Amino acid sequence: MTLTTTKMRIPLVDLRANYTGIKDEVLAAIGGILEGMQLTIGPNVRAFDEEWARYCGVKHAVGVGSGTDALQLAIKAVGIAPGDEVITVSYTFFATAEAIFYSGARPIFVDIDERTFNMDVTQIEDRITPRTKAIVPVHLYGRTAEMTRILDIARDHNIAVIEDAAQAHGAMMDTGKRSGTGGRCGCFSFYCSKNLGAYGEAGAIVTDDDELAQALTQLREHGQVTRYFHPIVGYNARLDEIQAAVLRIKLKRLDQWNARRRAVAKLYARLLEGSGVITPEDVGDRHVWHIYAIRVPGGKRDAMKDFLWERGIGTGIHYPVPIHLQEAAQFLGYREGDLPVTERVSNEILSLPMYPELTDDQVGYVADAVKAFMRA
Ligand SMILES: Cc1ncc(COP(=O)(O)O)c(C=O)c1O
Repeated sequence: MTLTTTKMRIPLVDLRANYTGIKDEVLAAIGGILEGMQLTIGPNVRAFDEEWARYCGVKHAVGVGSGTDALQLAIKAVGIAPGDEVITVSYTFFATAEAIFYSGARPIFVDIDERTFNMDVTQIEDRITPRTKAIVPVHLYGRTAEMTRILDIARDHNIAVIEDAAQAHGAMMDTGKRSGTGGRCGCFSFYCSKNLGAYGEAGAIVTDDDELAQALTQLREHGQVTRYFHPIVGYNARLDEIQAAVLRIKLKRLDQWNARRRAVAKLYARLLEGSGVITPEDVGDRHVWHIYAIRVPGGKRDAMKDFLWERGIGTGIHYPVPIHLQEAAQFLGYREGDLPVTERVSNEILSLPMYPELTDDQVGYVADAVKAFMRA
């Protein structure tokens, strides 16, 4: 494909294009809720909890206010407390560690495997101490972590696994099950730009554990079982009816949208072959491509970002500063150089436009611009 002379405008994510395809259904559902005025934890939340659990292949889903709520409640329900340690990655969105901070426990970071962008499983056992209570793998960009190995290690050391599946709706794990369903529980974000995104904030925890599901249901609404009776202290982490209704409409299309993301990823990989950028590994149907992140070697990432922007192409950096180097995490005592792969990849990473409505022509335009930059 050659670089077209007409300048296209291609955002990183196009929520409006997605809305256009479901507008009538969404407006009818929201209209119905406003007529009925049952606005929180009602029939849509109950139905979505059931539908999301069935989709994931587990007994329970508990819809909550955000992915951060999901992680926070999961960590609390599993019993992680001040003084405990939780093994996770620094190469993730800040909320993964934030939820651990809320509990008073300490995140212990392992480096990532640069091929997968996920937890380097060979480093986990060296970090386990008598204080380790859990491992929180993150299925970053829509690719699941090496769960078979992680679950084996956790079993050997009697520690819990809480999956951060915020970016991996519908992705399959190497265990043959859907993301979020391998450990004690899995946490999802339905932030608006996610593969399954609400029109605002939403999240969910999935689990096969009846007691844990009961505890999570209690925790999401101030610890109560019956209204105004509070055996434990909980949170206000309710999912609202409008968001649940939107999620139910979108869930019906999730597999179809994920399939289109996979086709877009394949096309990018083919068009960018030999360009000099490092494209992400394709793991077939297991990947749901929440983010399509290339690596730009040679310290040229920021210049490429500007070059693409001038050609109307939106890009992202997920994420520019790993958590162990964030100002808020300085008290943990990490220094530059402690997680060399994480730090190097953070400086090279660039997310290209990725959403189901992208056309092949748009993908071609982006790939041509990337190649033109690399040639310059
Ligand atoms: C990996 C990861 N964990 C946790 C979260 C937190 O989810 P939310 O923004 O819904 O609170 C996100 C969302 O951006 C995420 O990408």
